[in-house]
Amino acid sequence: MSAKIIDGKAISLDIKQEVKKQTEQLKQKGITPCLAVVLVGEDSASKVYVNNKKKACDFCGITSISYELPESTKESELLELIKKLNQDKSINGILVQLPLPKHINENHIILAISPQKDVDCFHPQNVGTLYTGGKCFLPCTPAGILELIQRSGYDITAKECVVIGRSNIVGKPVAMLLLRENGTVTICHSKTKNLHDICKRADIIVVATGKRNTLTRDMVKQGAIIIDVGMNRNEEGKLCGDVDFENVKEVARAITPVPGGVGPMTIAMLMKNCLTAAELQSYC
Ligand code: GUN
Repeated sequence: MSAKIIDGKAISLDIKQEVKKQTEQLKQKGITPCLAVVLVGEDSASKVYVNNKKKACDFCGITSISYELPESTKESELLELIKKLNQDKSINGILVQLPLPKHINENHIILAISPQKDVDCFHPQNVGTLYTGGKCFLPCTPAGILELIQRSGYDITAKECVVIGRSNIVGKPVAMLLLRENGTVTICHSKTKNLHDICKRADIIVVATGKRNTLTRDMVKQGAIIIDVGMNRNEEGKLCGDVDFENVKEVARAITPVPGGVGPMTIAMLMKNCLTAAELQSYC
């Protein structure tokens, strides 16, 4: 039997509609959430992502203020802008789209953003709070992955979860969130030996390597849930993920497509974080 296709577009729309409703309620109290979106340079994929984030803000009733800076922007100039945005009480969230041009140190920028406005959950203070089990923003793509699994009706407790990839944006934080939900979690990466056998025992596999065909049918247990975070192009220029979708869907219980799986969830969870930021800052 072929797998259920987890519809990230539909689930993300549900979440955005929930955020829109809650934003309307907040507006009745005189608070309008506002996100500053900063893009440096000409990366075409980043331009598309940033545009989609601004469109989602419009949909949810969240104000977005856009800063599009040239490739030649100095690190000191970007730090100056962040300082200004940190101090501006009308701005609740600050998003600096990554990757940044090579002459700008991403860590310096992430550290400069006020943790209270860090709607990406990239600041070490928020990462630390997440890892020690406290309350903070949840990182957007990892939180979106959990929503996809849970809103599709699957429980994570006691499940064998395998994460392939150890990036700071996806691999490490999604492993932490799966652990928080009582999964038994294994993190694999490019140096892992016997990836095949580790995957074969998994109930849930999250693939975030950025490499096509990282996960093939022979590595998947019958009935496993497969989440594909990849965004690649095949020989024909068509978007595809890190999973051999056509073959893996024949053995999986449920699988996310690319596009239309994890991608839209990142933006929906960003909207949720902007709303939370505005709510929390209204108490200050
Ligand atoms: N680049 C790729 N994904 C992301 C993300 O979630 N947030 C930001 N700021 N940059 C990214």
